Amino acid sequence: MKLGWRAALALVATATAAGFAAAREPAAKHQGHVPPKVDLGAVATPDIATVPDTPEGRAIKYGYELVTATYAHIGPEVAQTEMRYAGNNLTCQSCHLQAGAQVYAMPYVGVWGAFPQYRARENEVSTLEERINGCMMRSMNGRPLPHDSREMKAMLAYMKWLSSGVPVGASLVGAGTLAITEPARAADPARGAAVYAETCAACHGENGLGLRNGRAGDAKGYQFPPLWGPDSYNTGAGMYRLLTAAAFIKNNMPVGTTHAAAALSDENAYDVAAFINSQPRPEKADLDKDFPDRRKKPVDAPFPPWIDGFGAAQHKYGPFEPIRRKLRELDAAAAGPKAP
Ligand code: HEC
Ligand code: HEC
Repeated sequence: MKLGWRAALALVATATAAGFAAAREPAAKHQGHVPPKVDLGAVATPDIATVPDTPEGRAIKYGYELVTATYAHIGPEVAQTEMRYAGNNLTCQSCHLQAGAQVYAMPYVGVWGAFPQYRARENEVSTLEERINGCMMRSMNGRPLPHDSREMKAMLAYMKWLSSGVPVGASLVGAGTLAITEPARAADPARGAAVYAETCAACHGENGLGLRNGRAGDAKGYQFPPLWGPDSYNTGAGMYRLLTAAAFIKNNMPVGTTHAAAALSDENAYDVAAFINSQPRPEKADLDKDFPDRRKKPVDAPFPPWIDGFGAAQHKYGPFEPIRRKLRELDAAAAGPKAP
């Protein structure tokens, strides 16, 4: 028997609420046939230098340029003011490491076949274009690229090319981030400050503002990107959520680290993520419109409203397990008494 489209989608929606990695279990799984499982760590990254000089090849190469040198093409310091789509001088690669090839650094490998996809933040099915613009408005603190722009098409072409070894709808190992084991306590930004001084400040700067390639205003971006301050991601970004930041940092920082040999303990990643996200950064407006189905709001979304009775501090710093427990109780109460 086949599940209807809506039923399959509702199942995926439940999986999404449970975590980012679970969101990669595709709807097809619930329709009776098991989708192929692909370990992104075993997928060879194609070499950008081998891309031919054809119209599609040129789009792929421009997409690669946009992802690795975002500031030079659509950053806030480019000469052509109408091309200033990003609001900071980060690159997509600042977080999507190795131009989107590094596993558990939100890789782009496989994203082509993973969208359209249900997204709890919007509570609807989003296309890959919409997802890219989610990062444009939040991680890049900017404005959306028109879906028919040369830039959007180039990013799509690049992501499709990177995904060429991955079947559409595959279940992906290595996608998103790899969760840490949460310490059963609130994260401690003061302890995190000490971790930061010891392990991060050498590159990202004691003031967290990073190290520029050139000078402010020259659209040359950073050697080491800022982690807070006016040129960083905003309060609506995924990286502003404690568990996402801790997972990214634990498995990818200091740069050169991979999940196979993480440098930080879970405790240190948890605390340093709290420290970074306790520092000033651009504010995103209208965050109350995110996660309109409040039940699907991640426990570490640090902006109101919440339906669980816990306050701002606990949603920002944890511990998160009591919040999850409370949400399960609310679910059980809403479902009513079990039929005999
Ligand atoms: C400050 C870090 C950061 C930057 C910079 C950033 N992103 Fe992201 N991006 C994330 C995080 C974290 C996620 C996943 C977590 C989430 O959904 O909130 C994500 C998710 C995505 C996804 C979905 C991946 C998947 O597996 O579903 C795409 C596509 C994407 N970003 C594209 C971009 C593009 C294109 C840029 C540059 C224009 C960009 N991002 C810049 C942090 C960033
Ligand atoms: C050896 C230098 C180095 C060290 C040490 C280092 N980083 Fe990074 N970090 C980088 C670089 C370089 C990037 C961007 C990668 C790219 O552009 O390819 C980055 C990116 C990041 C990002 C995402 C981009 C952004 O600007 O928000 C975060 C978050 C981050 N680092 C946190 C940390 C934390 C926390 C530590 C300490 C535990 C740390 N890093 C240690 C070099 C470093």
